[in-house]
Amino acid sequence: MAKKFRNFIDGKWVDAASGKTFENRNPADWSKVVGTFPRSGSEDVDSAVRAARTAFDQWRLIPAPKRGDLLRKVGDIMVAKKEELARQMTREMGKVLAETRGDVQEGIDTAYYAASEGRRLFGHTVPSELSNKFNMAIRVPIGVAGIVTPWNFPMAIPTWKIFPALLCGNTIVFKPASDTPATATSLVEILLEAGIPDRVVNLVHGGGGEVGMAIVGHPDVDLVSFTGSTAVGKKISEVASNTLKRVSLELGGKNAQLVMDDADLDLALEGVLWGAFGTTGQRCTATSRLILHEKIFDKFLEMLVNRVAKLKLGDGLQKGVDVGPCVNEGQQKIVQSYVEIGLEQGAKLVAGGSIPKGKLLKKGWFFEPTVFSEVKPDHRIAREEIFGPVLSVIRTRSLDEGVRILNDTVYGLSSSVYTRDVNQAFRAVRDIQAGITYINAPTIGAEAHMPFGGVKQTGNGHREGGWTVYDFFSEWKTIYIDYSGGLQRAQIDNYDR
Ligand code: UN1
Repeated sequence: MAKKFRNFIDGKWVDAASGKTFENRNPADWSKVVGTFPRSGSEDVDSAVRAARTAFDQWRLIPAPKRGDLLRKVGDIMVAKKEELARQMTREMGKVLAETRGDVQEGIDTAYYAASEGRRLFGHTVPSELSNKFNMAIRVPIGVAGIVTPWNFPMAIPTWKIFPALLCGNTIVFKPASDTPATATSLVEILLEAGIPDRVVNLVHGGGGEVGMAIVGHPDVDLVSFTGSTAVGKKISEVASNTLKRVSLELGGKNAQLVMDDADLDLALEGVLWGAFGTTGQRCTATSRLILHEKIFDKFLEMLVNRVAKLKLGDGLQKGVDVGPCVNEGQQKIVQSYVEIGLEQGAKLVAGGSIPKGKLLKKGWFFEPTVFSEVKPDHRIAREEIFGPVLSVIRTRSLDEGVRILNDTVYGLSSSVYTRDVNQAFRAVRDIQAGITYINAPTIGAEAHMPFGGVKQTGNGHREGGWTVYDFFSEWKTIYIDYSGGLQRAQIDNYDR
């Protein structure tokens, strides 16, 4: 019997009001069921929002350092359970164990950062233009936060949102991706074990169309933080505009690594292998374009193709496996269809390109690490987010042209340049349009205490991570205290002539 999981609403573990369920399976071996989960709907969201609203009245009054102490405990529990959580995550979404350990560690880092922020949450004191008057601006909680998260970082991304939201004094309605509901359930269990009070965190499983959109449209949800596709992000923006709620969108990417002719080619090779095929290419920060200077094009492509052929596909729990499966059949089909599109438009397939035939691999949703060369910047495989193990290689004659190609996309999340010339590196940093630029490092590898987010259609201008996410989850309140005992008029009394 598959393990039965529940929602956590109003302080209780409950089924969906409709009683409906869905199954979650292991993408490396689809015959293995991880569990059954409630297929919730708007009724369940209503109950969760009501509970979160009730809890807000008390939670907002807990001093931020005390909220931080609870989050420190959350971090401690995650440290103790790191291996167990990582294994659960690999079974649930397929990426290899080293990466799921990293995913949990990112959550731990985020917990400890949030704990310490409880003793900062700095405001501003500013002189008044009038005598005997005191001005300050402080951060205050906002209310009920809707948290809608993807399956590629099932622990890290929810923690990026939930921990700062809680630290700031908001309460939560959490809708995790339906491909990774078990990891999300573990996270909620840990929050409760650490002592986060009942009703402050509510977990509602189910589909994006039903549960996610019910949260976004709910008049009593004050803010929504979403990570996922640009198409869904646009829809969320539209729906949320009816209630003018605050929305943070972290969306797609079409990230490029540019390798100049003076680069350390061995280093650049390690970078692109990790950036393009880590997490089976299923990261918003994944390297999906490789822009090579013409002088090193042939040599680097040969080095790349040799190494790609040696990447070992398999169950991420097994030792020696480099690349796990796609998360589900739909994702595998998308990857397959982009390979066909690449071929039709005249790109040259130089590695991979197929669903592997091995008996073991047939059990899951695997796809060979794939490389196309002779890709033109206007090919669809150079423009559209694929979210799979497909790399498009493009040729450039110079740094300026390379940066132009890199910028030639509607997205702007991550970017990378390999060069040993410091002048070129700084020019690239200046001219690249992206939220994140790496020099001599791949497009993946963001650290929890730095701003994370992108420009253009990658988002709507907010940043997660570091100190910047606290701007999203708190509201500024401006306070004037006049201790003069008389009426003082700003803009007038000092300037009345
Ligand atoms: C994502 O791809 O959705 O930098 C997040 C990285 C990770 C986070 C990625 N630390 O790739």
